[in-house]
Amino acid sequence: MVLPKELEGAYHIVWLGEALRLLDQRLLPYEERYLVCCDDEEVARAIREMAVRGAPAIGIAAAYGFALGVARGRDWREVSRSLRGSRPTAVNLFWALDRMERRLAEAERKGEDVREALASEAISIHLEDVRSNLRMGDNGSHLVPDGGVVLTHCNTGHLATGGYGTALGVLRSAKRRGKRFLVLVDETRPLLQGARLTAWELERDGFEVVLICDSAAAFAMRRGMVEAVFVGADRIALNGDVANKIGTYGLAIAARANGVPFYVVAPTSTFDAGVASGDRIPIEERAPHEVLTIGERTLPLGVSVWNPAFDVTPAELVTAIVTERGILERPSEPSVRAHLGLP
Ligand code: MRU
Repeated sequence: MVLPKELEGAYHIVWLGEALRLLDQRLLPYEERYLVCCDDEEVARAIREMAVRGAPAIGIAAAYGFALGVARGRDWREVSRSLRGSRPTAVNLFWALDRMERRLAEAERKGEDVREALASEAISIHLEDVRSNLRMGDNGSHLVPDGGVVLTHCNTGHLATGGYGTALGVLRSAKRRGKRFLVLVDETRPLLQGARLTAWELERDGFEVVLICDSAAAFAMRRGMVEAVFVGADRIALNGDVANKIGTYGLAIAARANGVPFYVVAPTSTFDAGVASGDRIPIEERAPHEVLTIGERTLPLGVSVWNPAFDVTPAELVTAIVTERGILERPSEPSVRAHLGLP
């Protein structure tokens, strides 16, 4: 199967036909090592253990994992169950698997070659994500201040998507259009996606980058150093509430308190019209060991840890959501419905 041109440069999620090659993001920025996943269980493990992470990237990897599992002759329900159980918050995972299941049913009904049909559906999901990132870049680049400073959280770039990125895609498009600006990157405790992944990506692409501790972001805004905040999303409820990496809600509060616009950049596959508000979004809680060490243990024995991986930012704190369809200002249920074309 020939890969479309737009995916030839994708280095972190590569479909090999009989397997899926993933850049192991846990080892970045020091080591660029690849995992080769031969079935759905290996892909599910890579998602669970965050070798691949970021909402759209998880959905894409799961779609390829579904194709691999079915091609290995496993029952598709089992394949779907194992992939769906890998991480709970990013809706793109469930969106992609729903789509793969629909394609499987259609291929069986029409008597098509199921392996071919599923592989090409997964490639389409990947390709559409890259295209929607480029459109979001076009739609949002005018929001980036020329000559100013923007702030971002977690990683929303190539690594978190099929390629290019959501919030980082908007910054990439602004830079391509000749804008000059500095990017303040939150380190994003506990897994340091900002320091390890975003700073790595942006530095490679020639951005001006300054890393800050998560706890410095509000002060930077208070000092008037930040002109806009750009983040991604893992799931957006029907009323516009946004689940994203833990710390996003605090940033949105600080942005509102300091008159800084707060932009969310996400494809429409990140909206979950089946969830009325952010209170209904399942928030992943991860293992304590992610918090209790930084190189070496920092916590006294006997103290316990709470490690929510995401939080929910209420829609009223969001200035606008940039999607591949355009800009949704001041999201609310009626405006989300109109943007998604729902009755
Ligand atoms: O736990 P992670 O690293 O998968 O969390 C990723 C994020 O929170 C991203 O901001 C989000 O998925 C948007 S990625 C385009």
